[in-house]
Amino acid sequence: MRVWITGAGGQLGHDLLRVLGPKHECAPFTRRELDISDPDDIRKAAAIRKPDVIVNAAAYTKVDQAEQEPTEAYRINALGASHLAMAAEEWGTKLVHVSTDYVFDGLKGIPYTERDRTCPMNVYGKSKLAGEQLVQTICSRHFIVRTSWLYGKHGNNFVTKVLAMAGSGKELAVVNDQFGSPTYTYDLAECIGRMLGTDRYGLYHVANRGFCSRWAWARAILELAGKAEVPVRPVSSDSFILPAARPAYSALGDLALRRNGFPQMRDWKSGLEHFLRNDWLTEGERR
Ligand SMILES: NC(=O)c1ccc[n+]([C@@H]2O[C@H](COP(=O)([O-])OP(=O)(O)OC[C@H]3O[C@@H](n4cnc5c(N)ncnc54)[C@H](OP(=O)(O)O)[C@@H]3O)[C@@H](O)[C@H]2O)c1
Repeated sequence: MRVWITGAGGQLGHDLLRVLGPKHECAPFTRRELDISDPDDIRKAAAIRKPDVIVNAAAYTKVDQAEQEPTEAYRINALGASHLAMAAEEWGTKLVHVSTDYVFDGLKGIPYTERDRTCPMNVYGKSKLAGEQLVQTICSRHFIVRTSWLYGKHGNNFVTKVLAMAGSGKELAVVNDQFGSPTYTYDLAECIGRMLGTDRYGLYHVANRGFCSRWAWARAILELAGKAEVPVRPVSSDSFILPAARPAYSALGDLALRRNGFPQMRDWKSGLEHFLRNDWLTEGERR
């Protein structure tokens, strides 16, 4: 199949190309090559040959900055998604649109399923929810894939930050009152690869299984990277005043994956271990 990957310069975009590249005829577009908020860019890209599938990994992802520039967040996360949805609907193309756990307010206390009521707490989450709703309304062949706490080789993410800070030799302070499902972009890309060959359209939660606090995640990163001696102090979210509120608990349950016969994702610690061994640590650092 001919597969477009938008947001190919991002951390998920890189792993989508790594996973889908050997199996499909992929056209990866960075923001410079295809700005999803510009319908002309989308038309130009399709002038030669239209895709069978579009995987939209492009997004405005600066959660705190979005509070200051909501117009930009909505322009990309909502309008950009709607432009892709309109093109996909016109061409009879499938659209895999990636969304977020931040569509929830974090008050549920047990993993969120696809049936739970959304209630985003910040501009980023609201703009992503608007994108989901536009995709659902406009495009009949859609997969909406909500994911959470992403990390991968090509990103500035929590895992890479913890490892960088560990190198400084100082004690780390990490919040222990935010819970979620850390998800390896490679695993997410593999799941998307399984979906796009089917017509089992709809809304899916796709995250590595299980959940933990950010503090427990940091501890696991250090232990698996052979740096267990680095001290990590658990602190409350109140210690960091950030512009955007975050859900305290946004673990995702995989009801739709199971109901639709897709394999479950591996658990978050196995995904993390795989990432560190294969994508991060040098041969000498691997135990
Ligand atoms: N990161 C997380 O923890 C997390 C959690 C849950 C859900 N998600 C969702 O997962 C998806 C992938 O996230 P990610 O972590 O891979 O994000 P990322 O690394 O920030 O990548 C997003 C990419 O989209 C590009 N982009 C921004 N505006 C664009 C536009 N108008 N047109 C085309 N490309 C544009 C960015 O380019 P520039 O860098 O040049 O702006 C960047 O390369 C997003 O939908 C995000 O909302 C992420």
